[in-house]
Amino acid sequence: MIEGLIRKLAESHSLTLSEYESLIVNRDEGSAKLLRSFAVKTRREIYGNDVYVRGLIEISNICRNDCLYCGIRRSNTNCERYRLTPEEIFSCADEGYELGFRTFVLQGGEDSFFSDEVLGGVVREIKARYPDCAITLSMGERSRESYAYLRECGADRYLLRHETADPEHYSRLHPEAMSWQNRMKCLRELRELGYAVGCGFMVGSPFQTAEHIAKDLKFIEEFHPEMCGIGPFIPHKDTPFKDYPAGKLELTCYLLSVIRLIHPPVLLPATTALGTIDPLGREKGIMSGANVVMPNLSPVGVRKKYELYDNKICTGEESAQCRECLSNRMRQIGYEVVTCRGDMKNYGGVRN
Ligand code: 5AD
Ligand code: FES
Repeated sequence: MIEGLIRKLAESHSLTLSEYESLIVNRDEGSAKLLRSFAVKTRREIYGNDVYVRGLIEISNICRNDCLYCGIRRSNTNCERYRLTPEEIFSCADEGYELGFRTFVLQGGEDSFFSDEVLGGVVREIKARYPDCAITLSMGERSRESYAYLRECGADRYLLRHETADPEHYSRLHPEAMSWQNRMKCLRELRELGYAVGCGFMVGSPFQTAEHIAKDLKFIEEFHPEMCGIGPFIPHKDTPFKDYPAGKLELTCYLLSVIRLIHPPVLLPATTALGTIDPLGREKGIMSGANVVMPNLSPVGVRKKYELYDNKICTGEESAQCRECLSNRMRQIGYEVVTCRGDMKNYGGVRN
């Protein structure tokens, strides 16, 4: 039966909610293997053996928000706060460009220092220095006007994980001041403004059920994001979720395969969180259908401070080392890290 669902998904890129749920609940080693082989074949048809890299620059861990799972939440008084100056951000980008990065991801907490003026100025300057690069922002919820302005300044893409497609589940992961409705509104607006948009969720977040995940998958099927970030939830010692178990490698990889089949050309990272719960996590993610890796370009001095979860990897390595390390890791499994912007490819008339 589950084999039938997998074949249906591979052919039609769509299942019903209850079929998605069944795909999760009834999975076993055999079905995972079949799913993986379809996912890898589909990815190979579109992207060959290429793996895209994004240079991640963690520009600030100051956040006005208080997500219950996140190590840089406002309530965490143990977190040593920092923000990079625009000059520091430019030198990360300079170094990254030399290392072959053609996409920079500026990620940070919801820090009011990065007003439209300041963040827009940073985007403009990086685009002026490197017109052949794409800029991705991952700076949380902002107003439509702000998203519009940053787009005018040259931002190409925006990552804003939806976190969960179930409003009730959303409210258990976030403070009262945040709402699922607003998160969805942000995603819609980003799309309307012409960004390439990334959504995503954590696997194994507290209270998550198979039904929730089925909704996440349906949302991805309907929204058709250009990018989708999924990684295991990992507890952080200074958060209310410190005693909850981390998400599983096996389920995360399984879902990477499912998402590849739902939306064949999607840009799908093998995340740092996946590399944190298993020494070969990112390799296993790529071998399940992911096609993007995001080595860290932040100054080594701040990396340890940008801890969304415990034991994050790559906090001691220089940017060049991280880049080298990932290239080698990919080569060892038969893939190649390529130097290009790495936009989502067109595929069979699929709507975005
Ligand atoms: N474990 C795993 N992922 C996390 N994120 C935040 N906190 C954690 C955690 N404890 C993810 C969220 C957020 C992204 C930037 O990092 O999904 O959107
Ligand atoms: Fe950062 Fe391996 S990717 S050290």
